[in-house]
Amino acid sequence: MKKISREKFGSRFGVLMAMAGSAIGLGNMWRFPYLTAKNGGAAFIVIYLLLMLTISLPTMITEYLIGRRSRSNAYSAYGRLGFPKLKFIGLMAIFAVVFVLSFYIVVGGWATRYLVEACTLGFQSTATDYSGKFASFVSSTAYPLIYTFIFLSLTAVIISGGVKKGIEAFSKIMMTVLFIIIILVAIHAISLPGAMDGVKYLLVPDFSKVTGETWVTALGQSFFSLGLGCGTILVYGSYVKTEEDLSMSAIFTAFIDTGFAIVAGLAIIPAIFAIASMNGVEPNVDAGPGLVFITLPSIFASMPFGSVIAILFFLSLGLAAITSSISLLESFVAYVMEVWNISRKKAVLFASIICLCLGAFCSLSQGVLSDVRILGMNVFDFFDKASSNFFMTVSCLLMLIFAGWFMKKEDFMDELTGRGLSKTPGWLQKLIYLLVKFIAPIGVLTIIICNFFF
Ligand code: PFF
Repeated sequence: MKKISREKFGSRFGVLMAMAGSAIGLGNMWRFPYLTAKNGGAAFIVIYLLLMLTISLPTMITEYLIGRRSRSNAYSAYGRLGFPKLKFIGLMAIFAVVFVLSFYIVVGGWATRYLVEACTLGFQSTATDYSGKFASFVSSTAYPLIYTFIFLSLTAVIISGGVKKGIEAFSKIMMTVLFIIIILVAIHAISLPGAMDGVKYLLVPDFSKVTGETWVTALGQSFFSLGLGCGTILVYGSYVKTEEDLSMSAIFTAFIDTGFAIVAGLAIIPAIFAIASMNGVEPNVDAGPGLVFITLPSIFASMPFGSVIAILFFLSLGLAAITSSISLLESFVAYVMEVWNISRKKAVLFASIICLCLGAFCSLSQGVLSDVRILGMNVFDFFDKASSNFFMTVSCLLMLIFAGWFMKKEDFMDELTGRGLSKTPGWLQKLIYLLVKFIAPIGVLTIIICNFFF
């Protein structure tokens, strides 16, 4: 294979923070806490970890490995590994990334808007109808678009700086700030009177709430949370030095991602219980996605130091969202840049314009374009479902089949061990290969079937 020189991450810490930044995102703060609360607390976490170790983590290692071996974007990777006919697998990842980006930047825009509000007017009135306020904001035409534009522009500016000076430098700073903030917010939430009931609700297992659907939900969430099947891990992997221990950094990313999601749950659920017991009402943790934008603002309004906590919370939501959208946009940019052979700046501009146009449809589908339906869904939901239930999962399945059945085992092992430079223990190498070849594809196929038929 021809050797190509490519921009690389400068340090191990930089690699880990960029990977963690990609994984930790809206999914951790917006979905994981309510899914855990709804699906039996620690029972859900146990299932989530089990599926992560046996299915999601091997898939992540595979994507990372293909990226590092091919030193290329998701589309060109298969050609560079000697299988040009399989480029369509990479193309599915590019579709996945464009679809995810289109709705992700809209929610990133909402987070930006709430951060601005927390910093200016704040959420001070307990009498405000936060549900109506959220609905009227997202269904309006101009404001969500303006905030989507701001959020995407910030992402684009960072990526324009390149791998080391843009992605790596910003990920290191933003992730450090994010970890500190979320821990502070969680400590504050747990220390509120009445919060312990929320901690128990989140962390005491209730296996009676576990159903077949819980397993599918847990696996789907871990795929989205680790950002699999969008070419993001693949592209980041292509910037990682050969001597870096690939399996260790994937394991680190998966654990920090789950740890963060649990801490985010501790920052949210106990606060909801505490304020509910203060007001003598039942805690409402079943608000689904509205939890962050509807329930929390009203919680901040009645919480001690609520205005400061609101700023910190929405700042952490914004930081989590932007580090993920950086990896998403980078996957698309790497494709545009390398396949069309144009400069990074031009590729960023082109990719951003495409995403902004599609994002505008997603945003407007909450309001003026709500009547436009694709397969019975509005555009936002269609992009969400098409990416999570189809493009991401199918591209992962095909990628696993490629790695386990088409790629030579020696090549797989050679890359896994950094061409002999990293010290991955022999038993771990064998276990990973076994999971990639048999267990993970069966697991992914199961979610695809369940998503389609149930
Ligand atoms: N993992 C991110 C989150 O949990 O919000 C979202 C994401 C990032 C999805 C990167 C896909 C991806 F390639």
